Amino acid sequence: MANLHTAITGLHAAPADLLTLAEMDGEHLRALFALTARLKADVTPYRNALDAKSIVMLFEKPSLRTRLSFEVGIAKLGGHPIYFDHAASPIGQRESVKDYARNLERWVDCIIARVKHHAVLQEMAAHSSVPVINALSDLAHPCQALADFFTLQERLGTLEGKKLAYIGDGNNVCHSLIMAAAKLGVSITVVAAKGFEPQFSVLQEATRCISADAKIRVTSDPAHIAGHDAVYTDVWVSMGQDAQTEARNAFFEDYQVNDAMMARAGSNALFMHCLPAKRGQEVTDSVIDSPNSVVYDQAENRMHVQNALLLHMLAGVELES
Ligand code: CP
Ligand code: NVA
Repeated sequence: MANLHTAITGLHAAPADLLTLAEMDGEHLRALFALTARLKADVTPYRNALDAKSIVMLFEKPSLRTRLSFEVGIAKLGGHPIYFDHAASPIGQRESVKDYARNLERWVDCIIARVKHHAVLQEMAAHSSVPVINALSDLAHPCQALADFFTLQERLGTLEGKKLAYIGDGNNVCHSLIMAAAKLGVSITVVAAKGFEPQFSVLQEATRCISADAKIRVTSDPAHIAGHDAVYTDVWVSMGQDAQTEARNAFFEDYQVNDAMMARAGSNALFMHCLPAKRGQEVTDSVIDSPNSVVYDQAENRMHVQNALLLHMLAGVELES
């Protein structure tokens, strides 16, 4: 339906929810990035675009970037963000997820949620008439990947023909990078420790929607990061995996992004990380603090790309290819 609508009107229909990135195709993402660039240059024309809109932000896990980039961004657009800490009582514990969603939709215009189990997001989306946006789940971190590819485009001028290497744990962030890369025509090499590869279902879905000029490769050999435009890593122990810390640190020790690893990628390769980073583990200070590191641009761009998404999903701002 989305493609038919686009073919007839030239406009991309806003997705009902954003849970993975399956909801938007490559052209749609490129159009979102065009709006993101305009907002980053000057947000003033949209100062009141979310006037009278209340947006609840449910967090079952800690956050710095996601919470603040949404909260500050929504305020810049004239909306009303409500932070709701769910760390002590997971969603669905006090009452069913269905009842919870059916209450929220009576008060708020959008639900942004960081959850332990992706299925909770799916259930909330199924039972709520207002958009649900994934602010990180065990499966995916779509807002992060949007900011990351916008950052790459900003730095490299274009995404066409570019190559991204992801090294370490094939986790939620990795899953969203694979999906976005496939749609945007960026080739991605995932160098994952054995047993920590990205989920097969994600690779299957990405392969289904891959653009002709992109390739997805999964390997355990760090030598394969040679010749990439950017090297991306994430923590070896994600939130909620603390009991596995010792074992995971041992599995990943050959996957640290240090000067030698960056030299393999090439002298111009950018360094990327969603943050928070465990300095001295998955990345050394010398790499994350180097001139090739774009980690704080990624963090800043979370706000701009999320603002574009909110304007598109909640304020009727149209995206045209
Ligand atoms: N990158 C990211 O999502 O950071 P937070 O966990 O601080 O929100
Ligand atoms: N993979 C990390 C990402 C944090 C932004 C986690 O889930 O904890």
